Amino acid sequence: MTRLTTRSRSIEGRVAIVTGAASGMGRATAHLFADEGARLVIVDLNAEGVEQVAKEIRGAGGDVLPLAIDVTDHNAVADAVSQIVERFAAIDILVNNAGISIPAPLHLEDYDERWERTLAVNLTAHIVWVRRCLPHLEESDAARIVNIASTEGLGASAFASPYTASKHGVIGLTRSLAMELGPKGITVNCICPGPIHTGMTAVIPDEAKTKFARRRVPLRRYGEPEEVAHGTLNFVLPASSYINGTVLPVDGGLTIQNT
Ligand code: NAI
Repeated sequence: MTRLTTRSRSIEGRVAIVTGAASGMGRATAHLFADEGARLVIVDLNAEGVEQVAKEIRGAGGDVLPLAIDVTDHNAVADAVSQIVERFAAIDILVNNAGISIPAPLHLEDYDERWERTLAVNLTAHIVWVRRCLPHLEESDAARIVNIASTEGLGASAFASPYTASKHGVIGLTRSLAMELGPKGITVNCICPGPIHTGMTAVIPDEAKTKFARRRVPLRRYGEPEEVAHGTLNFVLPASSYINGTVLPVDGGLTIQNT
């Protein structure tokens, strides 16, 4: 029997793609993976931001390819995958993290556009990346996909129907892909962050954050992007080879509270 201790907890040398890496959880994940020795591809719509994160990672001794693209541009994703394979000759890890949260009360004139954009970024882009990366993931001996959903994938808030639908969709997509790609040895898992200090939540006043956390989160605080990144790292380790199709809340206990 293989000693369990011989299973690798290292992603050194692995090629990892993180989308939405110019800010928040994507940035923290890219930094953590680079610190762990992975070769990073960081993708973001924000060209300046993605270059800045690449500079930070290089400054810390990491190997990184920054790509400034919109994840909803299917041709750009195809080109990006070609560039990645040209540069690194492999893809081992895909973290679908890029996301947007725009309020969408049903009465808004431009509700349809908000719906389309939210679903395109938060859900459709995930499957576009998976399909483009698949031939290369199939070549890896420890291929890993992690999709970032949300606690909005497990429950719901008013005035956010496109976001909530997209995040429920990410969980369904994760489970379906875990079924379909499991026989190839590719694991697919999903993280549901709770309230985290990132660009997305920067617009919420501190007072409102504190109040919400005290009322709803057993740990009584917002989480930090790095705390989510560590959850993601656990899923992508070669040693995590039998964790497949799971949905992990990283939410300080938000979703277990019953009273
Ligand atoms: P953030 O706003 O700090 O970072 C998101 C990044 O995605 C930004 O750099 C943005 O430029 C990029 N992005 C957005 N649309 C893009 C596109 N079309 N193409 C390429 N890049 C694009 O937000 P945060 O919080 O780090 O979000 C990461 C993920 O976590 C998202 O999927 C979000 O829905 C999810 N999430 C966030 C929570 C929070 O409390 N912050 C809670 C639950 C889930």
